[in-house]
Amino acid sequence: MEAKTVNVTDSTQLRQLGNSDLKLSPLGLGCWQFSNGKGMVGKFWPVLRREDIRQIVQTSLEGGINWFDTAEAYGGGQSEQLLAGTLNEIGGPLAEEANIATKWWPAFRTAGSITATIDERIHHLAQRTIHLYQVHSPYSFSSVGATMNAMAKLVEQGKIKYVGVSNFSAQQIREADRVLREHGLRLVSNQVKYSLLDRRIEQNGILDTAKELGVAIIAYSPLMQGILSGKFHKNPALVKSIKGPRKWTAAFRNSGLQRSKPLIETLEQLAQQYNVTPTQIALNWLINAHGENVFAIPGASKVHHAEENVKAMQFTLTTSEIEMVSHVSNQVLRSK
Ligand SMILES: NC(=O)c1ccc[n+]([C@@H]2O[C@H](COP(=O)([O-])OP(=O)(O)OC[C@H]3O[C@@H](n4cnc5c(N)ncnc54)[C@H](OP(=O)(O)O)[C@@H]3O)[C@@H](O)[C@H]2O)c1
Repeated sequence: MEAKTVNVTDSTQLRQLGNSDLKLSPLGLGCWQFSNGKGMVGKFWPVLRREDIRQIVQTSLEGGINWFDTAEAYGGGQSEQLLAGTLNEIGGPLAEEANIATKWWPAFRTAGSITATIDERIHHLAQRTIHLYQVHSPYSFSSVGATMNAMAKLVEQGKIKYVGVSNFSAQQIREADRVLREHGLRLVSNQVKYSLLDRRIEQNGILDTAKELGVAIIAYSPLMQGILSGKFHKNPALVKSIKGPRKWTAAFRNSGLQRSKPLIETLEQLAQQYNVTPTQIALNWLINAHGENVFAIPGASKVHHAEENVKAMQFTLTTSEIEMVSHVSNQVLRSK
């Protein structure tokens, strides 16, 4: 089949992150994969070699990515340290100007720990600016209001630039934004699970409320942790070789793979027309289906993932292609 004439988008085309002055690439790099096998959450991914991390970060920067998403929970600061160390090692303007998004871990803590632990975050990040500081989830011992008051204090002290949240409901982002406004600030983003195989935010009010308030959506697990690449459909034996708990989730079971197969076939057909990969179609759909409201942060555990994923910013699906993919994804999600 002849490759489609591709509407090539300037890969350096940046968009404003919600209610902020940050100009970010539609894709950021998810850095959970840099947890170095440490801590509960860090055991989810295999330990990556330092050289692979360097190449993943460098490929991302050279491919037009200008921001990185990490967290305290990713190896208890390991991901932050490896990211900052790698950026320093790479050096040059792209690495120096990279924007950093990190997160405070709320479980079994009160809002007091936000101000108590910020210097540790800055230390792990080798004194880099924290452009976006996110509350990892709403599940702490403190109210949303108290949490936002503590985050506002960090902005006022110049320790962070902007406030974001993650895994917050529609009602919680409304409350977070209301409290931040009392400080003359705004909520900038809500980082949530969003992909062609998980579209709950379109139904539960999160996406609509975010659009209404000018809050950006940062889509995590945008490839459904690798499923949308189609590699597990092609070779189901690959699932067995996965280290960590991913293989036990519904999407990775045989029944899950059967269910998502029609979507993978659609992605493959479209990918062939564009001379790209299903992964790139899945990411392109996310960053173009809602104007400039949605950003996505695919993680990479191999250098070739980063090489492939950055190229998802180099074309734009047409409106009818976005609708077609959306339709097939909805059919799959409604099927049992
Ligand atoms: N806020 C939160 O609560 C939260 C939760 C989860 C994630 N996150 C953030 O979101 C980021 C991304 O989410 P995620 O890591 O859960 O899922 P993801 O980005 O959907 O999947 C990443 C995994 O998919 C596989 N993959 C990536 N690119 C590929 C490609 N081109 N071809 C084939 N396989 C590919 C790799 O795993 P294999 O090679 O091992 O298959 C990779 O580690 C994380 O790094 C983290 O920063 C945030």
